[in-house]
Amino acid sequence: MYILGIETTCDETGLGLIEVKENRVKIIDNQLSSQVKIHQPYGGVVPILAAREHEKNLPFLFKRIKNSFELEKVDYLAFSVGPGLLPSLLAGKKFIQELAKNLNKKVIPVNHLSAHWYSVLIRKKTQQWQKFITINFPALVLVVSGGHTTLYVFKSWNERRKIGETVDDAAGECLDKCARALGLGYPGGPEIERRAKMAKKFFSLPKPLLQKGYQFSFAGLKTAFIDLVSQIKKYGKLDEGTVNDLCASLQKTIFEIIIYKMKKASRDFKVKTLIVSGGVSANQTFKRMFKKAMPEIPIYFPQKSLATDNGINIALAGYFNLSSAVEVDKIEVFPR
Ligand code: KG4
Ligand code: ZN
Repeated sequence: MYILGIETTCDETGLGLIEVKENRVKIIDNQLSSQVKIHQPYGGVVPILAAREHEKNLPFLFKRIKNSFELEKVDYLAFSVGPGLLPSLLAGKKFIQELAKNLNKKVIPVNHLSAHWYSVLIRKKTQQWQKFITINFPALVLVVSGGHTTLYVFKSWNERRKIGETVDDAAGECLDKCARALGLGYPGGPEIERRAKMAKKFFSLPKPLLQKGYQFSFAGLKTAFIDLVSQIKKYGKLDEGTVNDLCASLQKTIFEIIIYKMKKASRDFKVKTLIVSGGVSANQTFKRMFKKAMPEIPIYFPQKSLATDNGINIALAGYFNLSSAVEVDKIEVFPR
């Protein structure tokens, strides 16, 4: 079965085509257009600009897929209906409406968060057939991205309970805003990771809500970090080395908070597996810290190119929700 997935929730335009047979998957095509350069001067995503870029990129990326694949063979279209930015979602909706009518296909509405957690099932970025990894339930599942820091316990893929989420900023948002305070551009996560590798010492930063169950809070940490940066600047000490040290301290603090909570939840819910997904899960230090903190539990991360938003994840989540396929006119978007 062939599924074409379309992602336009935020600032990545993604079209991904997969073939699936029982428990095996093959990546046929993965077209992605990043808008990083467009939003960089603003230090964050500008919704109207993002929508305009999606409108431009979608037909362009689609044409690339069409050039090498007979699209009549596609069985279903899958489309990420939210959560996300409304103008971006509407740009995607307009495109999918036309496409579904032209191809006469049903559309599977995909929850963007689900696309992140299913992404761990693909082991390799190869165009060969590969088996899905097998997950033992119950599993503790984290989606940690620019918009979300949400923790679930899954009894199976179809039975889950949200046990915690951020009460303010998401972890990725905190990285992005703190990177902006350091003048590092958008998105902050990858640049913070790069600089952290050169750090020589750590600053001590607060860990808000550490003791409060499974809720997260990163706004207080962000404010403390930005204040610290202002203080250092005032004394003229914000040199390259200090920026590196600040980057390392910030990501270490965020990761320690997350790992502390997940360690507690993994004991409380006696989970057999950990799944960590979403853009921030691309971070190598994060992965190392997890494995060191919880060596006894199998832990799955997406492979790097599937950690951040893309069309393959949407197609994959579509495959696990085939029964919700509908006529395109029934598709609604959900920003929240
Ligand atoms: O999942 P994603 O692509 O989009 C959302 O659904 O939000 O996640 C984007 C977030 C951004 O905040 C970005 O800074 C962060 O993921 N990110 C990283 C890394 N790569 C992306 N954070 C830390 N380390 C990375 N290597
Ligand atoms: Zn995402």
